Amino acid sequence: MSSVTLDHVHKQFGTAKGVEDVHIHIESGEFFTFLGPSGCGKTTTLRMIAGFYYPSQGSIRFDQQDVTSVPPHKRNTGMVFQNYALFPHMTVFENIAFGLQVRKMGKEETRERVEKMMKRVRLEGYGERRIDQLSGGQQQRVALARALVIEPQILLLDEPLSNLDAKLREETRFEIKRLQLELGITTIYVTHDQAEAMSMSDRIMVMKNGEVQQVGTPYEIYHAPVNRFVASFIGETNLWEGTVVAVDGEEVRVQLAAGQMLTGMRKHASPRANLTTGSKVVMSIRPESVEERTAAEGENTVSGTVQLAEFTGACVNYVTTVGSEQLRSMSINLGRPIKQRGATIHWHIPKESIYFAE
Ligand SMILES: Nc1ncnc2c1ncn2[C@@H]1O[C@H](COP(=O)(O)OP(=O)(O)O)[C@@H](O)[C@H]1O
Ligand SMILES: [Mg+2]
Repeated sequence: MSSVTLDHVHKQFGTAKGVEDVHIHIESGEFFTFLGPSGCGKTTTLRMIAGFYYPSQGSIRFDQQDVTSVPPHKRNTGMVFQNYALFPHMTVFENIAFGLQVRKMGKEETRERVEKMMKRVRLEGYGERRIDQLSGGQQQRVALARALVIEPQILLLDEPLSNLDAKLREETRFEIKRLQLELGITTIYVTHDQAEAMSMSDRIMVMKNGEVQQVGTPYEIYHAPVNRFVASFIGETNLWEGTVVAVDGEEVRVQLAAGQMLTGMRKHASPRANLTTGSKVVMSIRPESVEERTAAEGENTVSGTVQLAEFTGACVNYVTTVGSEQLRSMSINLGRPIKQRGATIHWHIPKESIYFAE
């Protein structure tokens, strides 16, 4: 197992930008995820760690060793590619054994290692099958076994679940996490799916247009997004704009366009938010944090009109018009009657649940 450091890494493809100034330290044994929309530079960054691309600027270290210009086969990383890149004409056994044969391992040891790995990923007895005789989920496990059989220091996974259907994706998510915990291997995982990133990772790096937006634990990124992009990419949120009208000790009073006043806490703010009197701010309010009230009384209470009521069994979700804003809410179903479209509804927005984004 080793740590991975990217020291101000840039990658330029001719005149096109791949990634810009990625500066991160991934701990040994950590499950670290690159998250962002398509084209934001996740694969490019992963490929530089594997050695398939070399940075245009900056350096990469595994523990203390500089690997910036070390070729892929000398890095001891195991990689699962987005389309798996299995050899279709070869058997499961031959696919998994491939990396060991390249490393000139003896026949007996190869057999032992491959069989042990097939057991680990629950492919026991499938050794003689051809790849095209396997389901998508089984192919995914062959790709994982092939990456792990060489006992890499670092496991690199590029959208490994994107070819699977929703149910299998969820199962495989736990499977990968289980393997990673058992092996204690440093794992770098690429995905555009925030639910995957949130549920599996120790830390997440959120990217956009080749640039790092934020690095943090799922909890930090969810509760303290640095900007609008991160706030809306991770989970669902309401982004309301307002003007700071007063700052009173720890409290910040904000007026919305339609006149309502909300109070938030100064400590719940991105370092980039400007909380001086007169400035415009964006507030991120998570749907699960607002509470239904029977009357519009007290601080931070707003009234609105129900546009949409959605009953999912476990939850009741409303879309409410509040002045010139829209509020999405999500509450656990406690058996209360559900308000219908057009009804008036009162909401309390707790001070602690308002987060001032950029
Ligand atoms: N080999 C390449 N040649 C030219 N441009 C590339 C190449 N690989 C990636 N890019 C560009 O770099 C950017 C990041 O791509 P990529 O890392 O594949 O994104 P992601 O994996 O997040 O979808 C994109 O704009 C993409 O077009
Ligand atoms: Mg990609």
